[in-house]
Amino acid sequence: MIPKPPRVLIFLGVLAGLAAIVPPAVIARVRATPDENRAVHMFFDMDFQPKFKTQAVNPLFADGRAQRYAVAGTVARGETDLDTHLHQGVVNGAWAESLPAGLEMTDAFLARGQQRFNIYCSVCHGYAGFGDGTVNKRAMELMANAEGPVYGTSWVQAKSLHDPVVREHQLGMLYNVVTNGIRNMAGYGAQIDLEDRWAIAAYVKALQLSQNASLQDVPTELRDNLKKGNLQNGEVK
Ligand code: HEC
Repeated sequence: MIPKPPRVLIFLGVLAGLAAIVPPAVIARVRATPDENRAVHMFFDMDFQPKFKTQAVNPLFADGRAQRYAVAGTVARGETDLDTHLHQGVVNGAWAESLPAGLEMTDAFLARGQQRFNIYCSVCHGYAGFGDGTVNKRAMELMANAEGPVYGTSWVQAKSLHDPVVREHQLGMLYNVVTNGIRNMAGYGAQIDLEDRWAIAAYVKALQLSQNASLQDVPTELRDNLKKGNLQNGEVK
């Protein structure tokens, strides 16, 4: 028979067992407690480096600001924008009547404009441009049926692009409306590429012509066919 160990040994054994729990408990506790001055920072990566944070003070400059203005005349890469025709739709201080150099009024260009118009503009202005897109219709409906402002908002009727005033807009002005918006309409400069904005402007002109053309606008050789009703999509049936 195994002799019973002395009580003191059992006592020390239990004590050692309990003491063994302490280190892992301490480690677990430290690991779970956020502390900026962690004693052991195993992986430095780029955690510590000299820098100025936003709004910090930098005594190097007379005004004490760490954030500096760009030096006057600085132009960010790719943002020269010196061609006012291309970037603003302006030639010699007036709205451009033509496409900027490098862009050509081709069928493909207009088709691209139509596709982009249908994506970005038709929701409000309608596919034919009468200001009757689905978003506009829905908003007008909500406004009409509401007793007060709907959800604290309001809606301005999207302009008909065949409005006599809008019809007078030069190509450059239309490009500018697409880019920067006008009154209550937001600009699309940030969403639509530069060339596509010109394509849309060109397409709006075509759309306007489609609703307001005279016989003189039809090429002579096609006029007879037009009168006989033989013309479809600009081609003889
Ligand atoms: C979210 C709806 C909405 C979208 C999308 C929209 N528009 Fe408009 N647009 C309006 C509204 C509303 C007005 C009238 C603004 C006013 O009178 O304050 C307007 C006005 C215009 C005008 C008339 C400017 C004038 O001189 O009165 C043109 C041109 C125009 N939009 C073209 C476009 C083109 C091109 C697109 C697509 C890139 C487009 N819009 C997309 C709502 C929209």
